[in-house]
Amino acid sequence: MDSLLSQILNDVKPLVGKGKVADYIPALSLVEAEKFGIAICSNDGEIYKIGDADLPFSIQSISKVFSLILAMEFYGDEIWTRVGHEPSGLPFNSLVQLEHEQGIPRNPFINAGALVVSDMNQSKFAAPDIAMREFLKKLSGNYSIQVDKKIADSEYEHRARNAAAAYLMKSFNNFDNEVEDVLYNYFCNCAIKMSCVDLAKAANFLANKGFSFITGKKVLTENQTSQVNALLATSGLYDEAGSFAFRVGLPGKSGVGGGIVAIVPGQFSICVWSPALNEAGNSLAGMAALESLTKHIGWSVY
Ligand code: DON
Repeated sequence: MDSLLSQILNDVKPLVGKGKVADYIPALSLVEAEKFGIAICSNDGEIYKIGDADLPFSIQSISKVFSLILAMEFYGDEIWTRVGHEPSGLPFNSLVQLEHEQGIPRNPFINAGALVVSDMNQSKFAAPDIAMREFLKKLSGNYSIQVDKKIADSEYEHRARNAAAAYLMKSFNNFDNEVEDVLYNYFCNCAIKMSCVDLAKAANFLANKGFSFITGKKVLTENQTSQVNALLATSGLYDEAGSFAFRVGLPGKSGVGGGIVAIVPGQFSICVWSPALNEAGNSLAGMAALESLTKHIGWSVY
């Protein structure tokens, strides 16, 4: 595995730094475009890594997977009365379907869907941002995970589009709490910093029928785990979910911080990170690295 990772690093080197670091959140644009890391975590806890795999980065939309899982633990199937499980085929921050579909977002990974899930968590936890951090610390085994407050504040300052989605959903009675409170907690979750190793470990239960080798417990039932993986496969990369299935062939979730988590059911969890993004807002070198990895090992689930 280590020589395969060296080969992949070599293959994708020319692409590292190609694309554009996200700048619609100003504090996020300060990250160095040239970074690149991969971590693979096997279901028995073996870690394989290369490059900047231990460097914490802004997890951004990867947080949406974990806030969905927190909400699933409390609400079970009730979640699906407030958010759908269909791909949107549109960018992550699009608002066009929301008006037509009476404020019910297509899925929990587009921003509108993640905001509804955050609203549900806001109703259950006195401090949903702290609950989320504690959850990620337990799942990754890294108790030093923190939020980058500068990034959270920068997101809040430039919140107009997310605020528009949340207020529109409130007008359709699909939002219970104060919009501004939920927005800030959502941004705090997106602004959590974790490394590829942390994320590969934290997501490993998705490759292991819901069982976390770190906590020694089931995080989700087997059926719920399949549901999350199905959502990752169909909506985890938004309007690029089709290309991701075609090129990589695994359930996955990207973030505009340049991270992508991918799941090889029954075997491994993977996290790649490289901050420069393609046109759809997904890590350009990260996509290429995952494509090369799954082709070399024949890991596509399709
Ligand atoms: O709300 C936002 O726009 C960001 N905090 C998260 C967006 C994101 O990561 C989309 N993923 N590729």
